[in-house]
Amino acid sequence: MSNYYNMPKLPTENSPKVEIFVDDRAVMVPGDTNLLEALKAVGIETPHVCYHPYLPVSGNCRQCLVEQEGPRGRMLVISCYTPVTPGMKIYTPASSARVKNARKATQEFMLVNHPLDCPICDKAGECTLQENYMEAGQNEGRLRPEYGKNYHGNPEHQFIDAKGQLRGGKHVDIGPRILLDEERCVQCDRCVRFMRSIAKDEQLQLAGRADHTYITTFPGEKLDHEYDLCVTDVCPTGAMTAKYFRFQKRVWLLAHTPTISMDDSLGANIWLDHADGRIYRVMPRCNPEVNRSWLSNTSRLAFQQFDKNRLPAIDASAIQISGGKVALVAGGACTNEDLAALKMLKEALGDRAELFGGSLLKVNAPDGIAKSGDPVANRAGMQLMGFADVAELLKRAGEFSNLITVNADLYGEDAAAAKALDKISNRIALSAFDDATAKKAKVAFGIRHWSEVQGTMVNSLNILQKLSAAPTCPDEKLAPAYEVISALAGNKFNSACEAFKKAREYVPAFADITYDAIKSTGKLLGGNA
Ligand code: SF4
Ligand code: SF4
Ligand code: FES
Repeated sequence: MSNYYNMPKLPTENSPKVEIFVDDRAVMVPGDTNLLEALKAVGIETPHVCYHPYLPVSGNCRQCLVEQEGPRGRMLVISCYTPVTPGMKIYTPASSARVKNARKATQEFMLVNHPLDCPICDKAGECTLQENYMEAGQNEGRLRPEYGKNYHGNPEHQFIDAKGQLRGGKHVDIGPRILLDEERCVQCDRCVRFMRSIAKDEQLQLAGRADHTYITTFPGEKLDHEYDLCVTDVCPTGAMTAKYFRFQKRVWLLAHTPTISMDDSLGANIWLDHADGRIYRVMPRCNPEVNRSWLSNTSRLAFQQFDKNRLPAIDASAIQISGGKVALVAGGACTNEDLAALKMLKEALGDRAELFGGSLLKVNAPDGIAKSGDPVANRAGMQLMGFADVAELLKRAGEFSNLITVNADLYGEDAAAAKALDKISNRIALSAFDDATAKKAKVAFGIRHWSEVQGTMVNSLNILQKLSAAPTCPDEKLAPAYEVISALAGNKFNSACEAFKKAREYVPAFADITYDAIKSTGKLLGGNA
């Protein structure tokens, strides 16, 4: 099973349109993609298990069958690996009993040895297999119950259950973050293709042959990679599950807030999945231009600290700016709205105030998957608004009497370098966390975390992206940074929309953009995204 496959070509806005015939009806579809995507573009969903738009196509599950008219008559073909050609004649279950029966038979075959115990499966509610089965009519299996299920996975993990049946490995500890339920695996090899082609670290393999095939790591090795939790996303069944989320919450009880991961300047698009006022998990949100369907473990698991070590909200009158020069410092997670409020505060303070932004953390190389390597998420926004790099402040710290940091934990990032700031006597920290900089400050003022605010950022690809607020703020009294800073400047913004209007005055590239017009996948500045 060491085959290498081709990546699917996905339709875009610029795809040429070609005419094909679906169930004897002429339709215009994108001409540069596969049939499965082309049918989807005209509203025809095709069940699929092994196909994933961002993984090479392997065509092994045969669930996506359609009929195609050819020189030798109508033949069953897999739509995920059949390119669109002008004039092709396709038949779906809407007109073809043969397609309907073929898909039903394929599914029955796939489920012959599958436990189908959805009520106790962690994937239930977001399982491709379950969806296909429900949509296809929940057909009864014809397997005689006395034979039981006959898939036993890796011989090393087999066991005899309480009823005396030989079973495949349950909750196999395949790596530090992932458990494998071998009985639920349908050998689609999506996880193998992810590790091979996206993570570029081939840690998973299909071993054995035919109905003895099973997923495994190399002998003595574990699945352990910065992107390994993505295999739990691509796994279409409950075979691969994340230890941190397993059995924490039924997925249909979760609400989803679309936002941006503010720990890196690529600004990976994410869903914050929450219930009862707390985040249960963070999932990648598909954006073809940014992180596709991928998310690093670091970004995914960061939420576990979002509600810890928080600073309380205090009376804003505690923020007193004394005479002398004022350094206003924005941290990497500041939104454009926070930056606009800081710029307005600088204008209110006059020439004695200066704007700085950034971080003392190292900038790493892009990983080519979902991280640019730059920990200053909104660096591009800072540049558009004329913030100088924070390194400049360290050199000239002696000139300043006041320091206001906004979600900028400079002491936490590099205590030795940040020591230069000790020269500034009046240090005020606005921060979500009681971090090292807040501890060193004369006044530490609690504000909302980026997961709890609305706003915008500009990512490293120059795409203006929108953040939404999850209802998970531990204290309603905490306000977004832009509200607190704009109030200090004497012109309080009551919403991110109001603050963005101010940002438009400062940034010519934002001038023609309204807050509401920014799409969920962002807006390429100076382009059409
Ligand atoms: S993997 Fe899907 S179909 Fe199988 S038991 Fe779990 S939810 Fe049900
Ligand atoms: S573990 Fe999941 S993704 Fe991997 S082959 Fe099995 S079903 Fe497919
Ligand atoms: S989705 Fe086409 S063969 Fe699996």
